[in-house]
Amino acid sequence: MDAHKQLTIGLFGFGVVGEGLYRVLQQTPSLKASIKRVCIKHPDKKRNAPAELFTDDKELLLNDADINVIVEVIDDSNAAFDIVSAAMRNGKAVVSASKKMIAEHLPEILDLQLQTGESFLYEAAACASIPVIRNLEEYYDNDLLHSMKAIVNGSTNFILTRMFEDKLEFKDALLLAQQLGFAESNPKLDVEGYDANNKWALLLTHAYGIAEHPANLAFNGIQNIQAGDAAVAMEKHFEIKLVAQAKKLVNGKVAAFVIPQFVKADDPLSFVKNEYNGVVIESGFADKQFFYGKGAGSFPTASAVLSDLSALRYHYKYEYKKLYHHTPHELTNDFYVRVYLSFDDLKNIPHEKFEWIEEWHAQEARKYLVGVIHFNELRNNSWWKENNTSLILWTEPIIEDVELRKLKKKSLELAGII
Ligand code: HSE
Repeated sequence: MDAHKQLTIGLFGFGVVGEGLYRVLQQTPSLKASIKRVCIKHPDKKRNAPAELFTDDKELLLNDADINVIVEVIDDSNAAFDIVSAAMRNGKAVVSASKKMIAEHLPEILDLQLQTGESFLYEAAACASIPVIRNLEEYYDNDLLHSMKAIVNGSTNFILTRMFEDKLEFKDALLLAQQLGFAESNPKLDVEGYDANNKWALLLTHAYGIAEHPANLAFNGIQNIQAGDAAVAMEKHFEIKLVAQAKKLVNGKVAAFVIPQFVKADDPLSFVKNEYNGVVIESGFADKQFFYGKGAGSFPTASAVLSDLSALRYHYKYEYKKLYHHTPHELTNDFYVRVYLSFDDLKNIPHEKFEWIEEWHAQEARKYLVGVIHFNELRNNSWWKENNTSLILWTEPIIEDVELRKLKKKSLELAGII
C-alpha cells in the first residue's frame, strides 16, 4: 500500500469497538483513513452516525474496489472468519479484534496470509491498548524470552477488584463490567476464562512460535472463587488475579496456562486494577519488564486498531518469526504446581494424587489445603473446577522436575515429618 494513499475502510461491526473506531478516526485526520461503509447485523437499530453509512449486505464491502482495508470487530467468530477470508482473497488488508476467531482458526489464518500476501493485523485482540503483539513479534529474541506472566482479561480483573476492594457482589460487579462495555456479549467467555485463554494462545504464537488450539491449554476463570479464598489471600497479604503464565523450563519446553493465582504485594501484577491489563516479561540480560494499560473498553481497543491501520501504511505484516524463522518451542505439561485448594468435601479431592501437602485446614468453615501436584492432574481432569472446589495457584507456582525432590524434603522437614 502506498504510504500516501487514502485508507478506505469497510467496517464490520458497530458495537463498543466499531463505534469507538468511528469516533477516534474523526479525531485523527492526519491518518488519512475514512470509513466508507459499515456492515451491521441489525440495520433497524438507531446508530450515532449517518444512516447512509450502514448496510447489512457484506458483499457491498467485500466487493467494493475502493475499499482497501477491512476492519472486522464483530463477536460472531464463525462469521468473522468468513469475512476475513473473503476480504484477504479479494486483495484487501484486514485488521481484526476477534481473539476467539483468531485463536481458533490460527492454522487457516496463517495459510491465508501466505497464500494472499495480504496484511492481517490484530493488536487489539490481546490486551487492547497495550502493544504486546508487535513487541513480542519484533523485540524479543526466541532464546531470550524466559517467561511471561500477564493479566489479559479486563472484565475479570474489574470484577475481582470491585468484589474485593469495594465489597460488591459478583453479579453487580459483572453487570457494571457489561454496562461499561468491557465484557463479551456472552460474559461466560470472560468469567470462565475462555477469553483470556484465547488471547494467551495467540500471544504464545508470537512469543514462542507455539501454535496450539486454545482447547488444548489448561485454563479456568474466576467463577469458583469464594469469599473464604479472599480472606485467606488477605491474611497472607496476597491478591487473587486471573493470571496467564508461560515459562521456559530447563529442558527448553514451555509450561503455559491461564488459572487464578495468588499474587504477592510486590508483584507488578498486583498493581493492575479494574479493566487494566499488565504483562511482565522476563528476558535474558534485560531482566524484568512490565507493560501496563487498559485492556478493554471502546477507545483503548480502538486505539490498537488505529495503530494497526497506521502500520498498514508501511506494509507491516506479522512475520511469525518464532514459528517460521526459529525452531518453534514445544509446550509441555510435565511439571508440578503448588496450589491452594478450597472445598466443601474432601471426598471430591483426589488428595492421594498430591506429591505432598504443606497446609491442611480441615476445621475451617471452608476447608482448604496447600500442596504440590503434577500439572497433568489438572490438564487431564476437571475435578478442580467442579463441586464448588476453588483452585488458586500459589505465588511462583511452577516447580520443575529437577527441583522436586529437594523441595519435598525441605517441606517435610519444616512440617516435622522427617
Ligand atoms: N471482554 C474482553 C475483556 C474485552 O474483558 O478483556 C477486551 O478483549
